[in-house]
Amino acid sequence: MVKKFDDINFIRLNFDVTNAFQKSFDYKKLLARARTETFTIPRVFFEKTDILSESFLKTFEKFEPASILFFYRKPNYQHFGAHIDLNNKTNKNDSVYAINWLLEDDESEMIWYKLPPNWEEGLKHTEIGSAYAEWDIKNLTEHGKRCNIKNICTLVRVDIPHNVYMGAKERLSVSVRFNRKFENWDQCCNYFSNYFI
Ligand SMILES: [Fe+2]
Repeated sequence: MVKKFDDINFIRLNFDVTNAFQKSFDYKKLLARARTETFTIPRVFFEKTDILSESFLKTFEKFEPASILFFYRKPNYQHFGAHIDLNNKTNKNDSVYAINWLLEDDESEMIWYKLPPNWEEGLKHTEIGSAYAEWDIKNLTEHGKRCNIKNICTLVRVDIPHNVYMGAKERLSVSVRFNRKFENWDQCCNYFSNYFI
């Protein structure tokens, strides 16, 4: 039977992220670059083989790792909206999940909201071609618990609107994206259940 996970926005996974990157990974250099990105939500993009370690790629092989994004936010920055991450090829809302963690602990909280009806009408593309839809958080209803991601490998939901509440410390988060698609969040969580802490 497929277990239901609708009220759960994030699940901690049993994978040590200290070994997720190749030995050449330079955190300070990446942070310096991320601070200067001028996108609305500053981000740095890599293909999987540019940066992920052999052990990470092997562990998550069946989910087909595709790319990795580093999201940067300044201290106390409050973004006006929350978004869903859509399928870049089909514009469908089947991207469902990402694996995130933070490179340094901070006070930020990831926050989720209920999916508005007619979300298709909000379809847009970012500067780097990622499909998404976004709404002002004033018009959304919060859903489930918030999460301070920490330096812990965390399965996060991205098919309902999500945003970050910043604290007084800057934030650099890692988000790994996969080609393995699921029909919905419940199916995704059931498939990942061997990795739950
Ligand atoms: Fe997102």
